[in-house]
Amino acid sequence: MKEYKNYQLKGNNTFGIPALCDRFIEYAGIEDLKELYNNKTFEGKWMSVGCGANLLFCDDYHGVIIHSTAQQIEILEENDHTLLVRAEAGLVLDDFIAQAVDKGWGGMENLSAIPCSVGAAPVQNVGAYGVEAKDVVESVLVFDTRDGSSRTFTNAECTFGYRNSFFKSNPQYVVVSVDFRLTKKSDWKLRLDYGNLRSALPDQFSENGEALREVRETVCRIRHEKLPDPAVIGSAGSFFKNPVVDRAVVDRLLCDYPKMPFYEMGEGCKIPAGWMIEQSGWKGKKMGNAGVYEKQALVLVNHGNATGKEVWKLAQSIVRSVKEKFGVEISPEVIKIPE
Ligand code: EPU
Repeated sequence: MKEYKNYQLKGNNTFGIPALCDRFIEYAGIEDLKELYNNKTFEGKWMSVGCGANLLFCDDYHGVIIHSTAQQIEILEENDHTLLVRAEAGLVLDDFIAQAVDKGWGGMENLSAIPCSVGAAPVQNVGAYGVEAKDVVESVLVFDTRDGSSRTFTNAECTFGYRNSFFKSNPQYVVVSVDFRLTKKSDWKLRLDYGNLRSALPDQFSENGEALREVRETVCRIRHEKLPDPAVIGSAGSFFKNPVVDRAVVDRLLCDYPKMPFYEMGEGCKIPAGWMIEQSGWKGKKMGNAGVYEKQALVLVNHGNATGKEVWKLAQSIVRSVKEKFGVEISPEVIKIPE
């Protein structure tokens, strides 16, 4: 384990926002977590941070941040159709997907280029282009910081929802590793029907041996065109969740905005918050050093030297505008620290 005192978090959050934490601890696995438990680390204020791709630091963090450096991949089971692959929490999700695609293991190619660690993927139930972590997660091994035990959660026990899971409201569990059920070529189920994914595939695309690689490359290209590269311009991807509203709300809005996009869900309809933010006139706007990305209004960006408070102020102004114009309350997907 490595420990740093008064640690600068600017490089540990994709917004690139400066903030200090009292102690930053890099740990490798369950044995280290047990040691931290025995040292009573979890009795004080603490949190676990992976790539920091969904966090907004509005102040210094007066507590301990733990960060997994465990990155092993192991095949647990394999048959003619599927594989069960264990990936450790500290691995960058996209590095895992790159390896999976290389080896012909299907299921995660649509999640390419999401800035996130393997450990954060089930917590947030990350999703893109019609696939969510819940579609490939078989189980999650966690460490319970209350009693130092470990436990495996099945997919059903994770109670996944839209950008949500059991772990999100139960941060006492630290994800140690995730078991993914992936498919071999005979069982690939390519999901190409989200947005413009199918039409963006290469002309000669066919569901042959190259299909996973071509889907991955296309997803990476679409993301690159629409979303800022966190290495160049700080952001946390989508800042807000897409609100789910009753069908009656959609019908009311369609009278005024007949071209409004929306998606039927089981229990209501999802309206793209990016569309509402753009309609409210925010796309490409700046407020101090914070701004709304010019190519995707759901994404707030750090134009350099933004503070977390500046970004939060912008976010609140956007929430108010959308509420005034559409009567719909949008809420952040990003977690504000301190809450
Ligand atoms: N739209 C606009 N203006 C905008 C942005 C979007 O009109 O500025 C419209 C688009 O034209 C489209 C609709 O809104 O009709 C949806 O847009 P898009 O396909 O870009 O997806 P999104 O709903 O804005 C969600 C996820 C993204 C994910 C994409 C693709 C959430 C909160 N966000 O965005 O996830 O990459 O779908 O699957 O669900 C993330 O969570 O950080 C993230 C990037």
